[in-house]
Amino acid sequence: MNYGARHVAIIMDGNGRWAAARGEPRVVGHRAGLEALRRIVRAAPSLGVEYLSVYAFSTENWKRPAEEVAALMDLLVEYLRSEIDELDREHVRIVFLGDRTALPERCQLEMERAERRTESNSRLVLAIAMNYGGRDEIVRAARSLLRSGVDPESLDEERFASYLDTGGMPDPDLVIRPGGELRLSNFLIWQANYAEIYVTPLYWPEFDGPVLQEALETFARRERRFGGLG
Ligand code: FPP
Repeated sequence: MNYGARHVAIIMDGNGRWAAARGEPRVVGHRAGLEALRRIVRAAPSLGVEYLSVYAFSTENWKRPAEEVAALMDLLVEYLRSEIDELDREHVRIVFLGDRTALPERCQLEMERAERRTESNSRLVLAIAMNYGGRDEIVRAARSLLRSGVDPESLDEERFASYLDTGGMPDPDLVIRPGGELRLSNFLIWQANYAEIYVTPLYWPEFDGPVLQEALETFARRERRFGGLG
């Protein structure tokens, strides 16, 4: 099935609340969140999704307790190590959004390895946002633009967008937020300008293929006018 959403972006929220509801520590929720990510990456291509962006660690998440931050870094490494064979076999290309220079070296090494190994795959692009913040991304893009000595008069939106971490990717058509909160939380704030937003009270660890399909069905029924009259 194809619902016309080429790029789906997900704010993977609610891991902590899912764990708390079970009397478990937050890290157990993140581990369950990783399982949900595995399910969604498997389900996405057959639903017509070509780009899947997931918010795994924000520039604000450093404020969490050190053990939780370390657990999230470990989960990234574990995901990449344990899934890389299957992802490659399924022709998934892995890319990363965010400022990786602040991440532990073990993460950076695994990230580079995964990117290199999957760079010629094209069935699905999985963009993992790690130490990502939309404002930070815009500032980093502005810095590289200034460094490149671009003529200010030649700068337009398209050119600017090519300097963002998502350069070369289409804008998201649909942003999905589990966990019930009604905000973007600094995720793809430039790119999600005209995205449809789907919020569900389900927590991210409860997410699976049928829920993704329901979000896409809702998306397909919406009328997108992009500022025009339709
Ligand atoms: C937000 O839930 C979720 C995160 C900050 C981390 C998301 C991480 C994963 C889904 C698994 C790890 C995947 C990788 C690739 C590292 P929350 O903890 O804010 O939940 P809460 O709002 O219920 O407290």
